[in-house]
Amino acid sequence: MRMRNKPWVAKYLEEFDHDVLIKEPSVYKGKWRSRLNKDIIHVEIGTGKGDYWLRMAKLYPNYGWIGIEKERNCAAIALKKAVVEPIDNRCFIIADASMISEWFADKEIDVIHLNFSDPWPKKRNHKKRLTHDLFIETYDKVLKNDGQIIMKTDNQQLFEFSLLNMQDKWRLNSVFVNFDSVVHQDVVTEYEKKFIDEGKPIYRAVWQKR
Ligand SMILES: C[S@@+](CC[C@H](N)C(=O)[O-])C[C@H]1O[C@@H](n2cnc3c(N)ncnc32)[C@H](O)[C@@H]1O
Repeated sequence: MRMRNKPWVAKYLEEFDHDVLIKEPSVYKGKWRSRLNKDIIHVEIGTGKGDYWLRMAKLYPNYGWIGIEKERNCAAIALKKAVVEPIDNRCFIIADASMISEWFADKEIDVIHLNFSDPWPKKRNHKKRLTHDLFIETYDKVLKNDGQIIMKTDNQQLFEFSLLNMQDKWRLNSVFVNFDSVVHQDVVTEYEKKFIDEGKPIYRAVWQKR
């Protein structure tokens, strides 16, 4: 999500002093369960403005929820929402998720959520897709043995790319091409709401590490 620079963001983040923001995530490598005091760790990569990450943390208080977002304007909005919520089973990292294996020990994460990830349609940019092998190989390291990746997208090309790329390495547990018309317990993200309002189909897949 490319946002126009918001004038308040630089100062807000510079002065931000609340335990929701983890400024040096590698300090917690191997210790996220004790940091969040939870046995199950969910990570959302590319939280945008943070609604999904925060609402899931409220809905599922027995899990720890870690949001990762590289875009500082979005991250600042997510943090503004987080600091007024009286919950402590969540934390947030502002950085590029390509560093994820620097922050998490092998098999430390239970579930990775990828919601409406940037589609990067041009071939030369495919390596930036969050389901490119460059990312999938690091997820494989940091996810526990039966850990899952859950993806939602409106983008058919990205969805097909992801299904094809994962098919030999991961078990496909479920797939929907019409998740918008299914009764479910999942939180609807900001982008998802926009696409549903536009009448676009929502694709969803769940893969499990073999
Ligand atoms: C299209 S937005 C979707 C936001 C939100 N998940 C939703 O569904 O409303 C994708 C977000 O992923 C973030 N993102 C993309 N690649 C990332 C990466 N490698 N590391 C961290 N965040 C990333 C972008 O900055 C952007 O905010």
